[in-house]
Amino acid sequence: MAVKIAHDMGIFALLSQTTSFVTCEDLATEKNADVQLVGIPWSAERIIRVLVCNGFARELNIGQYAPTDLSRQMTERLTIATMDSLFIDILPVIHKTPEYFQKTGYKSPSDPTNSPFQYAYNTTDSCWDWMTQHQDALGRFNTSMEGSRDRIVHWAQWFPVQTQLLDGAVADRPLLVDVGGGRGHDILGFMERFPSTSGRLVLEDLPSVIEDIRSLDSGIWRVKHDFFKPQSVQGARAYYFRHITHDWSDEHCQTILKHTTAAMEKGYSKVLIADYIVPDLNAGPKETLIDMAVMVWCTGFERTRRRWMELLQSVGLVVTNFWLPEGNTKGIIKAELLDTPDTPEQDVEAYPMARISHDPNF
Ligand SMILES: C[S@@+](CC[C@H](N)C(=O)[O-])C[C@H]1O[C@@H](n2cnc3c(N)ncnc32)[C@H](O)[C@@H]1O
Repeated sequence: MAVKIAHDMGIFALLSQTTSFVTCEDLATEKNADVQLVGIPWSAERIIRVLVCNGFARELNIGQYAPTDLSRQMTERLTIATMDSLFIDILPVIHKTPEYFQKTGYKSPSDPTNSPFQYAYNTTDSCWDWMTQHQDALGRFNTSMEGSRDRIVHWAQWFPVQTQLLDGAVADRPLLVDVGGGRGHDILGFMERFPSTSGRLVLEDLPSVIEDIRSLDSGIWRVKHDFFKPQSVQGARAYYFRHITHDWSDEHCQTILKHTTAAMEKGYSKVLIADYIVPDLNAGPKETLIDMAVMVWCTGFERTRRRWMELLQSVGLVVTNFWLPEGNTKGIIKAELLDTPDTPEQDVEAYPMARISHDPNF
């Protein structure tokens, strides 16, 4: 709350501009706050104390404040959108979720049109349909999706793209289809790292999202696509799902993936899923936090290795590797079409993770 108020009062902008320090009076006058209010009874001082103890500002002396990396980060478009999406759109759902569970008997939500989201917003629309009707929320959400990748190492920097995707790829066929890829920030990141690949790069998302794209390299094909309908891009080298399957129950994922497998060519096409691979033991704060967020927002959930294998096998795919950067729980699950329907089930315990060393911020 204090961070959101500080943003709304322009405190981060003021802090970031100073070359020495700012005072409470400076911070209060920015928004024409009554100077009498500085210090009493609620004030910039009260807000900035919260910021200081959480690393959003430094206190040089009594009443003198200087910026930190975090205060500067709070002036960036992508960070602001993430904060606003959480504060304005997601928090009201979180607030109502305990009441929802009291009334519905503590069942894990799996119907995207009847869940904490609909209870909080008094709607029968899924969050995706609702956002189409609420363009401000859609804009915040789409920008926050760009933001959540902004400061992390792009997967194309640590995933063995050359051996896993490019070697053996046929030049005049689609190379990579980013299914539900938002405004295209991720596939653009791929293009920037592999600018001279000959196969086509394709971005797919709902019409409202494709129409919300502000700028995107014209080399990336934009396709308005509902992934609950047949996949129109046939025989691509890879169908890439980043933070898609974690938004949906197994049943919904099976529909999405079956449309994908119908478009795949056996022995050539691959499915790449970029998501958390929740540890069986001692799951960490990031994956458990996101698990709660997707539960209340869209009835999704974060899966363990076993859950991923079961899901993919249920649609005729076999996991060929889990790529997990060292020290992280978010990685890439690679799957291909099963050779025969009789291929024996994979033994999850015997299945190793391919660990990759790289930047811990992933
Ligand atoms: C959590 S966001 C992930 C976006 C992007 N892949 C990323 O990682 O930043 C989920 C995306 O799925 C898209 N989506 C939701 N329902 C869809 C549907 N039925 N067909 C296609 N895309 C859909 C949303 O519009 C949104 O862009």
